[in-house]
Amino acid sequence: MSEQRIGGTTGSAQIPNRTTHITGWGHEVPAATLTNADLEKIVETSDEWITTRTGIRERRIASKGETAASMGALAAARALAVAGIKADDVDLIVVATLTPDHLMPSTAVLIKGALGSTRAAAFDLSAACSGFAYAYAVAHGFLTAGLGQRALVIGAETLSRAVDWTDRSTCVLFGDGAGAIVLEALDIEAGQGAASRPGTLSFELSADPSGAYALWIPGGVGEGADPLIKMDGATTYVYATRTMAAVATAAIERAGLTPAQVDLVIPHQANIRIIEHVSKAISFPMEKIFVTLDKYGNTSAASIPIALSEAVAGGRLKPGDVFCTVAFGGGYTSGAFVTRWDADPAHGARAAAVDPSTIKIKRPEGGAKAAEVPAALKALLDAKGR
Ligand code: ACO
Repeated sequence: MSEQRIGGTTGSAQIPNRTTHITGWGHEVPAATLTNADLEKIVETSDEWITTRTGIRERRIASKGETAASMGALAAARALAVAGIKADDVDLIVVATLTPDHLMPSTAVLIKGALGSTRAAAFDLSAACSGFAYAYAVAHGFLTAGLGQRALVIGAETLSRAVDWTDRSTCVLFGDGAGAIVLEALDIEAGQGAASRPGTLSFELSADPSGAYALWIPGGVGEGADPLIKMDGATTYVYATRTMAAVATAAIERAGLTPAQVDLVIPHQANIRIIEHVSKAISFPMEKIFVTLDKYGNTSAASIPIALSEAVAGGRLKPGDVFCTVAFGGGYTSGAFVTRWDADPAHGARAAAVDPSTIKIKRPEGGAKAAEVPAALKALLDAKGR
């Protein structure tokens, strides 16, 4: 009997001499700030412990109705404005998140609705804190295979709703927020090498199931209902220091570059000690590593796109600069990508044209019930007028 094949063709649909580049960027963080001093009031901790062990000074907390979808939509609207394109110019929306609004529909579909997009394919991707690197890689593959011209790649999290606010070993670490980019297909000259060509240069992605239950949220459909983060901090710390340097080095080598040829590293913002370890391990000076964790804590899949957006706004990336992002997270996953920046940072000012009141997630009347601000935080934030 002849071998049966179902669908598909052999061979690659990949378009030769095509890569991708970032043409839009934006982010959104909640207004409510939770400081280390605030945390001293709800768990036995101190500003001194948190600052010296993690580098985090404060984090943002979503108010009622503020979700991964609502923040992701606003970040995405800003990225579209910066790129100078409309929602219907986008062929794909990928959202990396471990705190989706719902198990179904995807956060990406809700964002698509809020943006008024009528044509994009849209789905969520689960790779925890490495999610943005994974989502970027998936969008890059989609665009270089010729399936579209533009993608929105979004990282969005409402981790405050997944944190146990009585567990001092985890609750001090996490915060909420979202970041987004517009990734566009870019045709490059044949034979133009990585040493000079613009756009995306390389990736390194991995996943290590031995850490699957060292950092996890039990609640799902198959097993258990507990929706709160559990973490073996020491094991995760060791994994993070080992993998971050290895993954960044592999991505930089695959791009045909040396660390000295990289202008900026944008790491996942989990812990300043982990970042300092990466700095030493790859002989990369801290001055060339972009850090936001003091302000936002660990925002998981949102941390790299928020940092990228702030790096551009802060004049840390100019056309021709090479940057490397590197992340680790639950799974244990890890991921890195290397890109030569070629957008005009001045386009960032276009984000101001986005009116947040026009970007709304469409909810069913009387259907979806917004998650409350965790009780442990509500009084604290209310007292600050939030
Ligand atoms: N305040 C005060 N004391 C604390 C706190 C706190 N918030 N948390 C823990 N402690 C105590 C512990 O109970 C312990 O006390 P003991 O010695 O009396 O038992 C002591 O401090 C030391 O605890 P360690 O765990 O050894 O502290 P460590 O130096 O390892 O720092 C930390 C802990 C910050 C959690 C570190 O292990 C870490 O950063 N790990 C990585 C975590 C991480 O990045 N997770 C996110 C992954 S990304 C994702 O996908 C979500």
